Amino acid sequence: MRKLLLVPALLFSLASFSQSPVDKSFPKEELFALGSYYYPEQWDSSQWERDLKKMSEMGIKFTHFAEFAWAMMEPEEGKFDFDWLDRVVSLADKYGLKVIMCTPTPTPPVWLSKKYPDILIQRDNGVTIQHGRRQHASWSSDRYRKYVERIVFRLAEHYGNNPAVIGWQIDNEPGHYGVVDYSENAQVKFRFWLQKKYGTIDKLNDVWGNSFWSETYQDFSQVRLPSQQEVPDKPNPHAMLDLNRFMADELAGFVNMQADILRRHINKDQWITTNLIPVFNPVDPARIDHPDFLTYTRYLVTGHKQGIGNQGFRLGIPEDLGFSNDQFRNCVGKAFGVMELQPGQVNWGTYNPQPLPGAVRMWVYHVFAGGGKFVCNYRFRQPLKGSEQYHYGMIMTDGVTLSPGGKEYACVAEEMKKLRAAYDKKNHMPGQLAARRIGMLFDMSNYWEMEFQRQTDQWWTLPHMHKYYNLLKSFAAPVDVISEKEDFSSYPFLIAPAYQLLDNALVARWTKYVENGGHLILTCRTGQKDRDAKLWEAPLAAPIHQLAGISNLFYDHMPRNLWGKVNFGDRQYGWNNWADVITPSAGTQVWATYADQFYKEAASVTHRKLGKGTVTYIGTDTDDGKLEKDVMRRVYAEAGASTEDLPYGVVKEWRDGFYIALNYTSDIQEIAIPDKAEILIGNARLEPAGVVVWKE
Ligand code: GAL
Repeated sequence: MRKLLLVPALLFSLASFSQSPVDKSFPKEELFALGSYYYPEQWDSSQWERDLKKMSEMGIKFTHFAEFAWAMMEPEEGKFDFDWLDRVVSLADKYGLKVIMCTPTPTPPVWLSKKYPDILIQRDNGVTIQHGRRQHASWSSDRYRKYVERIVFRLAEHYGNNPAVIGWQIDNEPGHYGVVDYSENAQVKFRFWLQKKYGTIDKLNDVWGNSFWSETYQDFSQVRLPSQQEVPDKPNPHAMLDLNRFMADELAGFVNMQADILRRHINKDQWITTNLIPVFNPVDPARIDHPDFLTYTRYLVTGHKQGIGNQGFRLGIPEDLGFSNDQFRNCVGKAFGVMELQPGQVNWGTYNPQPLPGAVRMWVYHVFAGGGKFVCNYRFRQPLKGSEQYHYGMIMTDGVTLSPGGKEYACVAEEMKKLRAAYDKKNHMPGQLAARRIGMLFDMSNYWEMEFQRQTDQWWTLPHMHKYYNLLKSFAAPVDVISEKEDFSSYPFLIAPAYQLLDNALVARWTKYVENGGHLILTCRTGQKDRDAKLWEAPLAAPIHQLAGISNLFYDHMPRNLWGKVNFGDRQYGWNNWADVITPSAGTQVWATYADQFYKEAASVTHRKLGKGTVTYIGTDTDDGKLEKDVMRRVYAEAGASTEDLPYGVVKEWRDGFYIALNYTSDIQEIAIPDKAEILIGNARLEPAGVVVWKE
């Protein structure tokens, strides 16, 4: 009997000591690692050793191979050649560089697509995408998946026990770069998916509302992926939501399948990840749950965004990294890295400015500040020919001179030594910060639904989220961007911006959260529909009425050139994007009211106490976010949580005992650092692209 009791106890204690492969590769006390992409297939093999030696001398800890090298690995069907890759892996090892090995599945070799053109994706206009770039094979092709299974297995078998290989990246930015796959394979799989979801065609007709306009189907075989090209105006909204969910499942299934194959054949010390473009159709990180953790890719200076001030176009905007850090940190495995950051100019922007000197370094610090395990910089060498000519590397075109970005990486590698020396593993988040923590709920189904039915040309879902994200960051609040899988109870504050699709179970969870002392913030559009995007057979947003203390609400929009006014406190704010006009129930406080329009004096923002917590409903969406910010500050103040007032573009984060501040603005910013603090990197006077790190 005693023996029996001892065994589980022993197992338990062994389990608690066993480190995850991610922690083994990136030990906590090392804080952060730097990596760089290298394409041996692009360079003369006589240069491999020189390049990898140089990479190692720069303080880079790992490199990244082979995500596009299928044609070299399997030059002919069934003939595998890993000799070249073996040589370059052992050279990396010789210089102390670890390797991320990638599955080459974004780039099938030409023999495969010529022999089996049915593996290719097809655009909505019927054009089949041909060999010659990447991301052109269909996740829905069983044939393609068979070839994928084999190459992934061969790679896993070959490198699954190689100690130089620390982990695996599946594919590269799976997502077909925005092309929705209308191939016959996808059509067939979509019908299976619908059949599994709905069971009967009557059910599908019911959920999609097909009795209107004679849209009714008699059989699943009649259904096609909804396409703008095949209908005179917009496709059915429920069909579109299902299309997005289906595509996200196909993508996730493709990645999860590869993860399962790798898992069966690799050593338990190697981890598995993939690199995703954040908030990009049809990527839904919440569905990709077989890897150990997820990474993302990000390019901040591409001519698309003006940034902050006259040099902003060289600096990028903080939410591009911050929001993704805070989302990916909360995905599977609760760890993340950034798999790609630009080292300088890219070749594919609307125009391609030079990043401001220091910006590359600042971005790396932003990932560090967000709790990332690593940044892997894209790419080591600038290509001289072929795709991506003009894309900077860490090394200039001569193959040996460090680029400005390369120098900035080398600088961070040196500075990290200082931070490691100052690291105290007994740190914990200061109480003042912990009191400001907020969970921000985000779900791709809401995003898909609202992007398809924007209702006003001024509605954009992500900017709505970012408005709240940025104002919370100006409070220096720690934000976790989370899915409904998370337990909300550890957050003093929880916000669900424009959470359009929900069910009673979620409302019950929110209610309990509030009754137990949480402060919930809901914003316009929340709760208007069920999970199938059906409006309730009840007043608009009925399921949240009781929780929010609302007895009725409707919404309004205004043209871009006119401004409605809202009174809050002694100030007036302008809006024209979106207004939920609220009738509060008895006992609900009205915090802000409309100052004009036919509903003058109706509520724009309400607040109520419930149990030990509060619910605030912010019904108006403004361009400048000033109303939202002032309301949120009051929510924080009434809950007894302090806030800071950082200008947009000044980032202040805390990680592992370190405070980090960054400057994305074009002006000098003075950071308030207590006199007793120990400044480790930089100083309180932050130049544009400046970084300061201190301990208090
Ligand atoms: C990324 C992609 C890389 C590379 C890079 C260029 O989106 O994953 O393979 O093409 O862009 O900036």
